[in-house]
Amino acid sequence: MSDAAPAIRTEELAKRYGKITALAGLTMSIPAGDVFGFLGPNGAGKTTAVKLLLGLAKPTSGEGWVLGAPLSDRAAHRRARADVGYLPELFRYQPWLSAREVLRVHCELIGLDRARWDAEIKDALGIVGLAERADDRVGGYSKGMQQRLGLGVALLGRPALVLLDEPTSALDPVGRHDVREVIRALKARGTTVFLNSHLLTEVEQVCDRVAIVDKGRVIQVGTLDELLRADAVRVRATGIANGGYDGLRSFGELQHEGEWLVIRGIAQDRVPDLVRAIVERGGRVYAVEPRHESLEDRFLSLLEKPRP
Ligand SMILES: Nc1ncnc2c1ncn2[C@@H]1O[C@H](COP(=O)(O)OP(=O)(O)O)[C@@H](O)[C@H]1O
Ligand SMILES: [Mg+2]
Repeated sequence: MSDAAPAIRTEELAKRYGKITALAGLTMSIPAGDVFGFLGPNGAGKTTAVKLLLGLAKPTSGEGWVLGAPLSDRAAHRRARADVGYLPELFRYQPWLSAREVLRVHCELIGLDRARWDAEIKDALGIVGLAERADDRVGGYSKGMQQRLGLGVALLGRPALVLLDEPTSALDPVGRHDVREVIRALKARGTTVFLNSHLLTEVEQVCDRVAIVDKGRVIQVGTLDELLRADAVRVRATGIANGGYDGLRSFGELQHEGEWLVIRGIAQDRVPDLVRAIVERGGRVYAVEPRHESLEDRFLSLLEKPRP
């Protein structure tokens, strides 16, 4: 695959289960090497999207390409699928097996050349940090270690693309941190990562780009910086003349917050004009700052916004 080809592309990819629309026309393109977050509340359609990309469910309409292979071309998709790792949302390994044995079973399942098993298992154990516990029974593992083993399974054969479905939702902060470290290590080696999550904190620290999904639709796609672009400034000023505020309303919606004046919806290139207008109305300006909405607030406001 050339560098220019996206690792994943979809066009109006949709899935209905009877009357339920699980995914309503997903269109996106994910460049190779990106860590892409697919972020939305429970029931948004995230697992459905992953199942369609893996060929585990059949689209109702639309098309998708995984590592260049169209979903509709089953033979081509199956060949591409050999280079895709997958961590399912819910999984459990036989508790009496050791991590190494679990990994051997999966080497067999994915049809990896036997001569490569030891090297691949060593590589996977190393990247998920289980090398020292490889011969302990999985039944004695913490949740975090089991999740890291699941990641290890998804990494066998060094796939170009890995799909992770809610990899940290069952974990405590230490476990989440560990999984983030694994994702960073994958990015460093050039692997494309598609990360499903309903947790903002999970995606904000590792993802290059994020799609926010709700009720089967993508509401917004972009870098976190783009999604968080400051759309307000706050100014600390004294002495603005009576009636002076009226002349400032053309800059945006005004709101007082303690000793600060917040101006919402102002374009950044109008900030110097705003300051001049305040001074012309007798104001003395002590501070001007961009005001960022917290990502959490932004996320909620995107989800709450009524859509046609
Ligand atoms: N096999 C199925 N049969 C019927 N409805 C399904 C099936 N799989 C998912 N759904 C429905 O599709 C919607 C999206 O589900 P899902 O993709 O699992 O969401 P998420 O992973 O974002 O929580 C939900 O309303 C869910 O109940
Ligand atoms: Mg899900």
